[in-house]
Amino acid sequence: MWAVLTIDNLPNRFGTHVMPNELLTIDPRQLDAVELFSHLPPTRCGELDRQYIGEVLDAGFGNWESADMIGRFESAYAKKFGVPYAISHNSGSGTMLACLLAAGVGPGDEVIVPTLTMAATAFVVIQCGAVPVFADSDPRTFNIDPADVARKITPHTRAIIPVHLFGLPAEMDPIMKLAGQSDLTVIEDSAQCFLATYQGKVAGTIGHAASFSFQGSKHMTSGGDGGMVITDNELFGGNIRKAAVQGYRTLGAAAGQSSIPRDQRQDWSFKRHDRLGYNFRMSALQAALGLAQLERLDHLVAARRYIASRYEDVILDTKCEWLIPPFTPAGRTHSFFTYSCLVDEDAVGVDWRTFRQTYITHGGDGLYGACSPVHLEPIFQTMEFFGLPERAPHHDPRYRGDVKGYSEMDCPNVESFRKRLCQFRTGMQTLEKVETEMDALRATIRHYS
Ligand SMILES: Cc1ncc(COP(=O)(O)O)c(C=O)c1O
Repeated sequence: MWAVLTIDNLPNRFGTHVMPNELLTIDPRQLDAVELFSHLPPTRCGELDRQYIGEVLDAGFGNWESADMIGRFESAYAKKFGVPYAISHNSGSGTMLACLLAAGVGPGDEVIVPTLTMAATAFVVIQCGAVPVFADSDPRTFNIDPADVARKITPHTRAIIPVHLFGLPAEMDPIMKLAGQSDLTVIEDSAQCFLATYQGKVAGTIGHAASFSFQGSKHMTSGGDGGMVITDNELFGGNIRKAAVQGYRTLGAAAGQSSIPRDQRQDWSFKRHDRLGYNFRMSALQAALGLAQLERLDHLVAARRYIASRYEDVILDTKCEWLIPPFTPAGRTHSFFTYSCLVDEDAVGVDWRTFRQTYITHGGDGLYGACSPVHLEPIFQTMEFFGLPERAPHHDPRYRGDVKGYSEMDCPNVESFRKRLCQFRTGMQTLEKVETEMDALRATIRHYS
């Protein structure tokens, strides 16, 4: 039997925190770019990173901890986001699985996720034995469409995972309202969104918990992989910690509580495990890098916003009408994980692949398309998650819902616009690289004008 946490012990209340640093609220065009980029080490690893790694190496490796690096990173992260609890993980996928397990999601349940996301958002639902229900996205923001979420809520729905895709916060107010009406847990997938705001609240502080990824492409990285959950609920946070760290009974949400004290673990009579858990624990070396990156996060985000403003300038200056720039609705700020446009293939006269190749020919470092809609990925078509399709959560006798498989046109908006999506990179760490991309885009636009 899965432990059940209801909305009553997951009150949604903490989104009163405003932007931590003025740097992020000013127009990126007003920033002194040279000064801004002087804060970004070209390899993404600077003096501070080396210092903190050195502290870990000097302290050596104990059973679980070193130089209190996990505790230091978690408390700094919580402070940065203005929340009481930050729980480190070794990836931004383990984070979401731990959240779902802690919320009691399991066989028989449905979880609503956008189909336009990285597949991990949906994999974690399958991994806890539940059924992902895919929602369509708004073609202007590329984020999950609350109206489609409303249509897809059933008596079996237990949770919603809105994704702040490409760095723009999803439309959270209607999602929280729907969740409140149906007692649903909301886990924000903020893997691609750092320090952006929705109605004055920092993305990640609106749902019952939020997941961040520190994988290498993200705004900040903890050495190529890593993740963090934030929440303001101690009980929920404690259960997330336990799901992520072997279900150890005495672990909690507070910073650094990712290992059991010596006197407990050495005592033969100590009963260790009161929940099922994985090992998604972050290492001290990852935490050292994460802490250093966190200390320059304002600049890392400001640089991405600056780069986005430069792409926009190129599109405006060249009067290009066939690249449709990203849309930031009123009341939101964008953190530009990528600068995501739609290309009007009819107007430019070439298809997406040719456009991308021309961009590369003109010196650009490539551009990403959208991921395939998750419901059309081969594994969601074969349903062979656990071998035979009959073993999928959709056929579990405890599941009484109607979702037995996924088809084309389940999410028509995404299926139609996603082939025209152009994600320009915003992770350049030097101004020279920024200029190269701008020159390439300018030349590509002129090529077709
Ligand atoms: C939207 C989204 N969700 C989840 C993840 C998974 O994060 P990780 O790679 O850290 O497991 C990613 C990372 O690529 C992502 O972009």
